[in-house]
Amino acid sequence: MAVYQIVKMGDSILKEKAQEVSKITPNIHKLLDNMAETMYDAKGVGLAAPQIGVPKRVVVIDTGEGLIELINPVILEMIGEEVDQEGCLSIPNLVGDVRRAKRVVAEALNREGKTVRYDVEGLLARAFQHEIDHLNGILFVDVAEKIYEKA
Ligand code: NI
Repeated sequence: MAVYQIVKMGDSILKEKAQEVSKITPNIHKLLDNMAETMYDAKGVGLAAPQIGVPKRVVVIDTGEGLIELINPVILEMIGEEVDQEGCLSIPNLVGDVRRAKRVVAEALNREGKTVRYDVEGLLARAFQHEIDHLNGILFVDVAEKIYEKA
């Protein structure tokens, strides 16, 4: 396993739409393992592959309820709304108030290639939306209602 360098805002890869994973290979497993290690090392709650320079639709999330691995995630339903503060490992100096759906229903492939459905809310729903935005080249500063310097 390896800890990757996290790409910072200003790098063009963070503005690109990432590509679907067409086949789950040992390299995708290695990517997932290393992304998780990188996220834990950086004390983040989520990481998308473009943040380590890989333009693929792969995400890892752990908001304290265990590791979630998402390949080709799709949001199917967004329910409710709430504004809360969020940050990003690629934007270490800023936080922002971002309006997100309170609850999302999403589907993604797991590392075995099986489709898994998620029905999540609160911080976990926020993490899903934030990380899936990364796969579409969107950063929280692009959608925040208010941006602050980190104290
Ligand atoms: Ni982020």
